[in-house]
Amino acid sequence: MNTSLTPDQRAGLVLKELTLDEKILLIHGQGSPFGGPVSPNILLSNGGDGFSLGVPRLGIPALQMIGSAYGVRFSATNGRYSTALPSNLASTANWNPEAACEYGALIGREERAQGYNMSLAGGVDLAREYRNGRNFEYHGEDPILAGTIVGHRVRCEQDQHILGELKHYAVNDQESGRGIVNSVLGKRALRETDLLAFEIGNEIGHPWAYMCAYNGINGDYSCENQYALNDVLKKEWGFQGFVLSDWGGTHSTAKASAAGLDMEQPDEGFYGAAMKKAVQDGKVPMAELDDHVRRILRAEFGSGIIDYPIHKFVVNVEEGLVISRHLAEQSIVLLKNELGALPLDAAKVTSIAVIGEHADESMISGGGSAQVDPEGSFAPAWENPAHVWFPTSPFKSIAAKAPHAQVKFQFGANLPAATALAKSSQVAIVFVHQWTSEAMDVPNLSLPGDQDKLIEAVAAANPNTIVVLETGAAVTMPWVNKVSGIVEAWYAGSKGADAVANILFGDVNPSAKLPITFPVSEADLPHPQMTVPTPEVVKAEKDGKPGPLFDVNYDEGLKVGYKWFDAEKKPVLFPFGFGLSYTSYSYSGLKVATGAQAGGTAATVTLSVKNTGSRAGTEIAEVYATLPASAGEPPNRLVGWSRVSLKSGETKEVKVTIEPKYLSIFDETANGWKQVPGIYSIRVGASSRDLPLVTTFALQ
Ligand code: GLC
Repeated sequence: MNTSLTPDQRAGLVLKELTLDEKILLIHGQGSPFGGPVSPNILLSNGGDGFSLGVPRLGIPALQMIGSAYGVRFSATNGRYSTALPSNLASTANWNPEAACEYGALIGREERAQGYNMSLAGGVDLAREYRNGRNFEYHGEDPILAGTIVGHRVRCEQDQHILGELKHYAVNDQESGRGIVNSVLGKRALRETDLLAFEIGNEIGHPWAYMCAYNGINGDYSCENQYALNDVLKKEWGFQGFVLSDWGGTHSTAKASAAGLDMEQPDEGFYGAAMKKAVQDGKVPMAELDDHVRRILRAEFGSGIIDYPIHKFVVNVEEGLVISRHLAEQSIVLLKNELGALPLDAAKVTSIAVIGEHADESMISGGGSAQVDPEGSFAPAWENPAHVWFPTSPFKSIAAKAPHAQVKFQFGANLPAATALAKSSQVAIVFVHQWTSEAMDVPNLSLPGDQDKLIEAVAAANPNTIVVLETGAAVTMPWVNKVSGIVEAWYAGSKGADAVANILFGDVNPSAKLPITFPVSEADLPHPQMTVPTPEVVKAEKDGKPGPLFDVNYDEGLKVGYKWFDAEKKPVLFPFGFGLSYTSYSYSGLKVATGAQAGGTAATVTLSVKNTGSRAGTEIAEVYATLPASAGEPPNRLVGWSRVSLKSGETKEVKVTIEPKYLSIFDETANGWKQVPGIYSIRVGASSRDLPLVTTFALQ
């Protein structure tokens, strides 16, 4: 308990005292609430997704783990309270590291309050596949933006003395057949896309745990993948924490142990008695077992969960709701605003139609192991994943904003009634949703059900129609030219309706920008049809006799997201980095300093942004780089950005430093990052397809 020693020294002291049985206890779980083999120790669980026993005689606590992507899970079954924050993709739309920190800090406080000391969050698999049911739980398509936001989230979550993590390492980019999918991707593309997001998250957040994924990577399951776990994560990146498997993602004892898996969750199929036998038979060297244990102990000392034992306390509900609304306001993207549709003028508007399923009472949330339980509800069983709606009412929030207006609601299913109300109202606001979840992908990017039809009908009845999207990620919009306003609210959290109303009525000026491209149609995607395992292959997996891994060839390689659409010169519906404001901005004075003048970083960009509109706002100035043709890279890549708040008429100079790695390519033969000599272009502007400022510089 000598806190003047390093986590490694303290781990070493404990390791010396442990018996073999105690070492084994530390490297596996005691079962999970989803069923399957559990030990009597399950009674010691705090009710989370899983837990591992500690060693009480040596003061080593149990690890009480909880799913907490956008809020602390299982509050219903445990009779507790959790705040639901906007989705993780929504949190990426604010491009704001400080907001990401607030996000992680709130969840860390609520985890501690409820009696947990380890978080199962930090999902940062890239949105390589637009139909991935878990895109809402991740951080979009650009590795630098994704890694930065998730890094600040986990950094500030751990500041609350929580053992934080990043997941699902790696290339768990689709849910269909996730247990048997083998993600096939060249090493250079792997390092510059999916793994770069984890690398940046690691550098910024220093998570003490990584969860390896269900899928394979280039032939080996993630949780027994020597290259991903030992070579890259532990050796190259110097990761000092431990790798735990996804629930049921462990597939061997000696192979997984040698490849770098440190802990099996949720139970002990391979790392319990089987591991003890393997050590006694000499199949697993004691030194290897000791390294697994040392890493777990180092993480427990380093994260503070030993020095700050769990003391439950009452969640600060009011504080959580204010933070959730504030974060949602920064995440809502204004995609279209014509005919002066927005903001609505509370003093002048006379009649408003609010239309859409549940828009009178609630907003949708993301499903699966990220699911947060709304206050006043009970948890639907995991087996039949339900659409969970949060009791935050768009209708009530809008009516409260416009006391002088006649605000009426129509469910939407009754098309004649909905169109009649729209026709007789000054403005029609249609709330539509796309529910997404773990363990499934969406069949296409269309809004489910007849929602496209509903929007078309309402817009035909009233051209002043505003669409509010409650979607997991990108959706197609066949009606995009028929409505006057479009707002992407994502899964907006416990106070989503107030946040949306504050944006619609202009109490908050939207500042968010898309962390994911909205394509025109699936036909434009790198894979118009998803590659999914055949029913026989899936059945074999279900029957516990998984066949060979099922290849998904990500042959688009480096061209993830906007890089694909740029390289293929395809039009998009709304580009990566796009978002409107109620004011306007202009850009000027771009300068780039490199080498010595840039203080050792690869380059420093300075420019001026002016608020040319009539009200204050916050602009996200985005910096993209084009590498020399010899680098063989897609046309543009995001290399930095700056959020700048400006009063009407105000001009500010912003400065963006570009990390050397962000201007590099991964050289497979040298097995390292390198900068290609040549002429580079720097482009700056409001989105990946609106870059008015450009300059070039030479790197030697
Ligand atoms: C799930 C998810 C993972 C989650 C874990 C525990 O299958 O893939 O994200 O943390 O199991 O619920």
